[in-house]
Amino acid sequence: MKSVWDLIKKKKAKEKITMVTCYDYLFAKILNDSLIDILLVGDSAAMVMHGHPNTLSATPEMMCGHSAAVAKGAPDKLIVADMPFMSFRKGIIFALDTVKALMVAGAHAVKLEGVWGHEDVVKAIVESGVPVMGHVGLTPQSVFQLGGYKVQGKTRTQAEDLLMQAQKLQELGCFSLVAECVPQALGKELSEMLAVPVIGIGAGHDVDGQVLVLHDLLGLNQEMHPKFVRKFLDGAGLVREAVNHYCINVKEDKYPTLEESYI
Ligand code: KIV
Repeated sequence: MKSVWDLIKKKKAKEKITMVTCYDYLFAKILNDSLIDILLVGDSAAMVMHGHPNTLSATPEMMCGHSAAVAKGAPDKLIVADMPFMSFRKGIIFALDTVKALMVAGAHAVKLEGVWGHEDVVKAIVESGVPVMGHVGLTPQSVFQLGGYKVQGKTRTQAEDLLMQAQKLQELGCFSLVAECVPQALGKELSEMLAVPVIGIGAGHDVDGQVLVLHDLLGLNQEMHPKFVRKFLDGAGLVREAVNHYCINVKEDKYPTLEESYI
């Protein structure tokens, strides 16, 4: 496991931090041998792995199951698990029970969205010895209040609030922050203002690192195409091609061969 302190060192050394989401054992095993710094067991699991329309359906049980699978597959990586919808809004006890379950499942840190109204929870988690990653900007658990998946902090008033949230999260002891869907200039301002690393998703290139949903970067997700997603692979095309190849081989009796059969 890498330590959260390595990330602060990377920021000081101006070395970019990389994070991707991961939800299962096999991808975790592959990513364990990659250059990636952090695996995020994101609540996007509810959408990517379970087909829900948004992240609100993620539960502590769901997040623990995915965290345990990722932890088994990636013993050398820093694993951050998302606190699911409402799990940090029902008081400190419920939040700490969720944190405990995620950490016992194998996470090394937790991430939670926003700050206003749950400052006490962030403080209690940090004081319990658990590293916390903040998340500002577009916070998908508030999608209905935000009126959709929209760029945040476009006006100066909104930007000021976002900067205050980030400052507060740092003060409360967060070791880093995700900034999602904010103008590039605000990403830069956040990164310059904070001592802790800012990991961007749709926040431009002046932040301290980047995070993407694994299935987006692999081109496996054919449904959502936000502007900031770059497909580094045509995963869906390759999977379809391989499965069609298999089907044709079966139909033409080219698979299995004698070598692929027990005699
Ligand atoms: O759940 C998730 O995938 C996330 C990333 C978008 C940062 O929180």
